[in-house]
Amino acid sequence: MTGRTPSDALVIFGITGDLASKKIFPALQALAVTGRLKVPVVGVARTSMTTEELVELARSSITQHGRFDPSGFARLAPLLSYVPGNYADPETFKQLKERLHGARCPLFYLAIPPSAFPMVVENLSSAGCTEGSRVVVEKPFGRDLASSRSLNNVLRRGFSEESIFRIDHYLGKEAVQNIVYFRFANAFLEPIWNRHYVESVQVTMAENFDVAGRGSFYEEVGVIRDVIQNHLLQIVSYLAMEAPSPSWNEAIRAEQAKVLHTIRPLSPEHIVLGQYAGYRDEQGVDKDSRVPTFAALQLFVDSWRWQGVPFYVRAGKCLEANRTEVLVELRQAPHVVFREPVPPHGDYVRFRLSPDVTIAIGARAKRAGEEMAGEPVELSVVEDVKGQMDAYERLLGDAMMGDATLFGSQEIVEASWTIVDAVLGEPACCEYKRGTTGPPEADRLMADIGGWTK
Ligand code: BG6
Repeated sequence: MTGRTPSDALVIFGITGDLASKKIFPALQALAVTGRLKVPVVGVARTSMTTEELVELARSSITQHGRFDPSGFARLAPLLSYVPGNYADPETFKQLKERLHGARCPLFYLAIPPSAFPMVVENLSSAGCTEGSRVVVEKPFGRDLASSRSLNNVLRRGFSEESIFRIDHYLGKEAVQNIVYFRFANAFLEPIWNRHYVESVQVTMAENFDVAGRGSFYEEVGVIRDVIQNHLLQIVSYLAMEAPSPSWNEAIRAEQAKVLHTIRPLSPEHIVLGQYAGYRDEQGVDKDSRVPTFAALQLFVDSWRWQGVPFYVRAGKCLEANRTEVLVELRQAPHVVFREPVPPHGDYVRFRLSPDVTIAIGARAKRAGEEMAGEPVELSVVEDVKGQMDAYERLLGDAMMGDATLFGSQEIVEASWTIVDAVLGEPACCEYKRGTTGPPEADRLMADIGGWTK
């Protein structure tokens, strides 16, 4: 039933929560606008509320976090209904079953804390709701390798692997999809996309804001679980994987998993963790917390294509810049023809993922004049981000169609946890000033190759 049968109902557990308000309601409106959402949407949460109040909640959430579209909302509102109840109470699930009116392929979105997953899956199964259905779960999937396996076992009690959609909103971003497209739609990159021409690869996710009121969540996760194990390793896998076969719909995920298996598990000497000054004063944060808000790490990809090419990954809160980008630095020309010092980071391919979406090639060109001296130039294409599909809209639409290409398979999730597992317990070694590039200690990882790019 699940295969590519469109879902005939959508059930959102945790409909009154933050995620629903910020991401899910705006995505639902966008899907309704384009006619991709025409099935009943049932919200479930503990709050006692009527369906009319749910419609008001949807309206205010979209107004606050998206762009309210009166005609789109007019399509969405009649689809919404609400089932109040406790996730531990089988009665809630009996009511839900009735509300589904015999739907044969409902999609259950678990926008609830992972601690409630076992209860919900158990009760959905007992109420006879899981057959033919699908489930969407948020990242991080588990807290480490062992717990991701246990969580998977819990889900597998009610759902088959092909009906589990492990969401990572980075995979739904247009700019991230463009990495795969640009790499495999153009032949000119392939000859240089390997250890013979690539000096290093840097992936940076710099955020210039703090934990934004999510102190207690952050205390539980820290930077590695929050964005490295998922968002940034997914990007690394897209950069490093082999070309997927177009004739097999599991090919992209299989290639991602394959390359993640070739990355050596991290050890403490290849990672620098920091915490921004003032993090301990955030609400919900322990006064003695050593939870890292910044990480810089070096990865080794043990494959024929990448042997010896260091992959550097950096992410942090309260940094100077607000920017996510990839820089694939190319080797310098083998022979010095022109008598001028060649600065590092001269030749490169850049994918900027945010705030703007740019693909650029960096090179050196001759400066006008008598001398044979050059300057860095960048050939770039900047995409218009306006009108791009939001990641949650894309992913929710895909999950409802049963297309798991942009969701983590259990193999991808386990391979990613294997890479970071040994350093998950490492405390932040140092504090860094807000508005900087992070702790200066992070420079030691890059000392050999001219430092991080700005
Ligand atoms: C989330 C993290 O998954 O991604 C946040 O929990 C982070 O800490 C956010 O800020 C970044 O997402 P985006 O789409 O704004 O780059």
